[in-house]
This record gives sequence, structure tokens and C-alpha cells, in this order.
Amino acid sequence: EIEQQIDWLLKEMTIQEKLGQMNQLSADNMEVNYDLIRRGMAGSVLSITDPAVANKAQQIAMEESRMGIPIIIGRDVIHGFKTIFPIPLGQAASFDPDIVEEAARTAAVEASEVGIRWTFAPMVDITRDPRWGRVAESPGEDPFLASRMAVAMVKGFQGKDLSNPTSLAASAKHFAGYGAAEGGRDYNSTYIPERQMRNLYLKPFEAAVKEAGLATIMSAFHANDGIPATGDKHLLKSILRDEWGFDGFVVSDWASVDEMVVHGYSQNRSQAANQAIEAGIDMEMVSGTFVEHGEKLVRQGSLSMEDLNNAVSNILRVKFRLGLFENPYVEEDRDSKFYHTEHLALAKKAAEESFVLLKNQEETLPLKNIKTLAVFGPLSDAPHEQLGTWVFDGEKDHTITPLDALKKMYGEQVEILHHPGLKFSRDKDTTSFVKMRKLAAAADAIVVFLGEESILSGEAHSLSNLRLQGAQSKMLKELAALNKPLVSVFLAGRPLEIEKEVELSDAVIYAWHPGTMGGPAIADVLFGKSSPSGKLPMTFPKNVGQIPIYYSHENTGRPATDNEMLIDEIPVEASQTSLGNRSFYLDSGHEPLFPFGYGLTYTTFEYGRIELLEDVLQKDGILKVEVTLKNTGKAMATEVVQLYTRDLYASVIRPVKELKDFKRITLAPGEQTVVHFEINIRSLAFWNRDMEEVVEPGEYELWLGGSSDTTEKVNFQVK
Ligand code: IFM
Repeated sequence: EIEQQIDWLLKEMTIQEKLGQMNQLSADNMEVNYDLIRRGMAGSVLSITDPAVANKAQQIAMEESRMGIPIIIGRDVIHGFKTIFPIPLGQAASFDPDIVEEAARTAAVEASEVGIRWTFAPMVDITRDPRWGRVAESPGEDPFLASRMAVAMVKGFQGKDLSNPTSLAASAKHFAGYGAAEGGRDYNSTYIPERQMRNLYLKPFEAAVKEAGLATIMSAFHANDGIPATGDKHLLKSILRDEWGFDGFVVSDWASVDEMVVHGYSQNRSQAANQAIEAGIDMEMVSGTFVEHGEKLVRQGSLSMEDLNNAVSNILRVKFRLGLFENPYVEEDRDSKFYHTEHLALAKKAAEESFVLLKNQEETLPLKNIKTLAVFGPLSDAPHEQLGTWVFDGEKDHTITPLDALKKMYGEQVEILHHPGLKFSRDKDTTSFVKMRKLAAAADAIVVFLGEESILSGEAHSLSNLRLQGAQSKMLKELAALNKPLVSVFLAGRPLEIEKEVELSDAVIYAWHPGTMGGPAIADVLFGKSSPSGKLPMTFPKNVGQIPIYYSHENTGRPATDNEMLIDEIPVEASQTSLGNRSFYLDSGHEPLFPFGYGLTYTTFEYGRIELLEDVLQKDGILKVEVTLKNTGKAMATEVVQLYTRDLYASVIRPVKELKDFKRITLAPGEQTVVHFEINIRSLAFWNRDMEEVVEPGEYELWLGGSSDTTEKVNFQVK
């Protein structure tokens, strides 16, 4: 029925009205926008946040424009609307698709309250370079984890039924390969061959389309191998439409159509419009080339009516599915759910699950037997900074910082002494260190909040140096010299270079930018009311020079061993061959600081023997495997049991390990359970030498453990 209505509308619409549907305006000047909507020149407005304005725009579209087609209002609701959840990279660290789905649902409930029905999320760009500021928004380095996160977020935003007024159309972005920006410099070119594109970067998009009914997709700013993503017909039509059967719409990124001229791909704005529409862009974000040149291009025959009709159909289909034709208006006096108690409780839980305990020497954590606690650091009481990138609507006045929370929740049992030491992360002024040291002298333990401000990560915020900014390292060094139990908590949008700081600290928690409820979540984890359970979604390099470094790499013919001689051990008279011929850095070896999947907790887990039910499988078989997991420590805690495989030889080289499944298992002290996995052998398929997605027969290895560097494995065969 929807298709019939679309056909009817298409027959009635003028070329200019069709192009109008394909035009997205920004909300900067609503008086101008109202006029454009009235004239059928806009299909969407980005970033209206006032329900009265949303309704007025909608009323003009419905009642005053000739075709009466509703507009769709979009916004970057990336990790929460008012209630802010951890940055997406932090959410990925939870390895908990359920809570990620709930967080997205909550964001949708809050955002839809002002008339937003479309979010430019989830960002599912796989990324292996923490210099890139947008790693904060990404699900990290791994295609399997990224796919689980993508599906969870799309389901959460879109809800069970897209036509429910609290549902948002999701937009998986940025299609595709943007996370591979050369040198981690935002918007930079990528050089991703077809096989890698399909085996890696496309995976989360494909999962979002096929498993979650994704409504929209956003193209990317960059060019891959000389073709701008916004003009890439192979991606946007052959793969997305023909292979995957996607029937939602594709929006360009902000002015990325126009920017094809700057790239040097289009001669002028007219050609850019032509190339983008022909490639499969349905809606243009803000740069206006479609409405400006589209009609002329159709009339002169360089743009086909079929391309135009397809684009408009795709857009209208999503508007129908959202129920906008029947129900375009937002209820202005709906009971507000902003910062609802349940939303805050969920945000706290999501933050707790995102924290990764990187070190805990002599059980420094959880804090115990402490009368006086010194709380320091530029991020100890910086509400805006803990919210992270892409926060337009969450307010710092509703944000609870670690200092607030520690005082409020633990202030009666522990005396809290506080000094930020530095005003902000980039501050180099060390004059207050004297005061800080004095306070520290009176404390039984020190917790210091270091890292980076929100503004240092996110779009266009790449860094070439990942060491702590300002005088933060100096501050930690001075505190370490006091020989008191020292806990470092890092709040950051990316993996930072923290090898020295980890050495100087007794315990280290990586808390990302944890959002509105970051403070209470941190307070409870510090005092052991909850145990950390996050695992790293990205490898932490020892230094920038190791980048790119990721667990799922291919083997060279001369992989590193653990015996390589490093720079300080090389004798002066060493000969060329005495160093061996292996793949590693003389000055930093081959291991990262922390591998993907790594994270400790307040207990220890013991894995039993891996039991394979069958070790010879058919290509369409199901591999059943189990392992006994026992909590052998003193605290109740959750382990993320991770399953990795390796295809030992194939028609093209396969990675040394690939994550294929994971499970969060919570056990009380002394408790044990058998953890079962069922792996569909088809999920071992890859794009092979003939560019076919197949499972190749042969020998495989399988690991189960609590990190990607786990060594416990078994072998199996696929016939
Ligand atoms: O959604 C974003 C995108 O990720 C980057 N450019 C602007 C868009 C809309 O704000």
C-alpha cells in the first residue's frame, strides 16, 4: 500500500518538488526555511529542537505546501539526548548489546519529545588509529563487535515499530571506510581494496541493514582510492541496493556533495549534483546543489528521471514508515521524560559497564580501610568534559562529576580532600601542585582524574601526539613520589599513550567520557559496590609510532617472537644479522600496551578446558563448544568470555585471530558455570581470492578467554 501511495505522489509531483524532497536544510534560519518548505523545496530539516518550531514547520509542509508531504527532522543524537550515555567507544567496551540497545531506546524517547524522528547514528566506522578524533564515536577496531553494536543501536533507536512516535529512524554512517583516514587525519583519503572493504569495513553496515531493518545510511566525506564516498556508485548502488536489498534512503554527509568539487572529482556544483544522484545519494545535506541544478540536469538528459524517482521513493518510504503522513506533529505538552530517574539509572549502569580496569596492583581497588581520600585532577570535577563529543542537548547542570558523587555517596564514611591541580587537561601551570601535595600528605589514598577534555576528540579533532596534555604527567609523577596508594582514572575519547602513567599508578581505570552519570558510576566502582567489567574495544599502543596496531592482523612471513632484542640490549658492535630478521620495532617491540578485549576486575576467573562437541564440521554445520568458568576470587563480577578463531591457511591470508562471539557472565565468588557457544560455520566465511564470500575447507584454531591475547585453544576442521 505504501508503494502505491508513493507511485501516486510521484505522478503528481513536479521535478522541482521531487528535488525538494531530496533537499535537507539546516535549522539556522527558520524564517527562510518556512518559505522553502511552503514552496516544496525541502524534505528535511536538521536540528530543530523546539517542538513549537517543529510543529510549525510540519504544519506548513502538510497544509501550505502543494503536495502536503511531511518533513523529517533529524539531529545528531549520538550517545543520548538529554541523559548522556558513555561515548560509543565506551559503550562498545561494555560488550553488552542489551544495554547499548536500551541506551539508544532511551535517547530516542527523549529526542522524539521535541519532534526529532531521525538520528544520524549509529556511527559504525571501524577504526584502528586513535589519532583520529572520531574514534570516540566509533565501536572500535573489530568488525564483529562493531556489528553487534550497530544492530543494538539501530534496534534501540528505531524501536519495535518505526511508526511509534518515540521511534527514530537510524542512520548508519559513514558509508564506507571513513575510519581508515590516512594518518588518522580527519576527512583524509583511504586506500581500501575491495576485499578489505567487504571483509572489514562493510560488515557493521551489512548487519544493520540485514539484521536490524536500518532506515537510512549516511555517506562519508572522504575518497577511497580516488572515488569520493558520496559519488561511489559501486558502494551505494551495487552493494547497498542490489546485493543487500536496502530500501531506505541515503543522505550525504554535510556538504559532501559540494565538496566533491573541492576534492577535484567534480568540475562544478552542477556536475557534483549529477554524480551524487547518479551514484545513489537520495538526500543532500545542506549544500543545495540538487535543488539548484537538478531540474536543468534532467531536462538536458544527463540525469535520469528514474534516478530521481528512485531517490524520492526511498525518502517517502521512510516517511511513511515513520507514520509522519498520519501523525506529523509532536505533542507539545507530553510529560517530559528528560533525565527521568530510570534514564539516569540506566546511564549509570552503562557507564559502570564501560569502565576498563587496566591495572590493580596488590588489590589497591576497591578502596578499603580509608579514612581520608585525596581527589585530584583536571577531570575530577569537570561536568562538561565528562560528557564527551557530540553533546548538543545534554546539560552540564544535570551532570554528576566524580567529585560530586564521591562527596555525596561516600562523604560520610570518608573525608574527601580535593584539588584539581590543573584547571583543565591542557593546563601547564603547576603552581598549585604545592597545595595539592600538602593535601595528599594528609590522605590515606589518592585518586587522580586525568585524560582529555571533550573538545580534544570528535570530528576534525585529530591529534598527532597521544601523550597526556599539559602538565598532567608531571602531576602524576609528583603524586607517585609520595608513596601512597595511587589510583589513576582516565577520562578520554580515545586510547591515549599512558605507558608511563600506568607504571606510576597502583591501579588504573579507563573510564572514557562516561556521560551524565559518570560520577556516581566511578564512585561505586572505586568503593567496590560494583566491579568493573569493560574490555578494550581498541588496542592501546605503547606509543604513536606503533599505530596502526590491532589484534586481528595478518601474519608476515617473519612474525615477531617473544625473544627479540630491543634497542637497549643491542651491543654496540652488533652485526646486521645478529639482530635476527623479524617483524617488530627495535624500540617498542611488537606487543601493544594493552590488547583488544583486555580488562581486569575485582576477582579472578579460571577457565577450564575448552570442550568441542565435534571437531570435524560441514560448511553449513554448527560448531558447539563450551568451557567451565569459575570465579576464584573474592568479589562478584562479570567476565566477558570471548571466542576467537583462525583459518590456518586459505586462498588469501586470514587474520591471526578473529572475534566470532562473546558472552557476559556474572558469577559470585566460588561460583562456576559452563559457558556454551554455538558458532554457525557460515560465519567463518570471507571474501576469497575469487571475490566470493565463502567458507573454505581446512584447519582452524579456536580460542576462548578473557582477552584477545588468550592462549588456550583447540583445533577443528571444516570439510
Ligand atoms: O552527522 C554528522 C556527520 O557525522 C558529520 N557531519 C555533520 C553530520 C550532521 O551534523
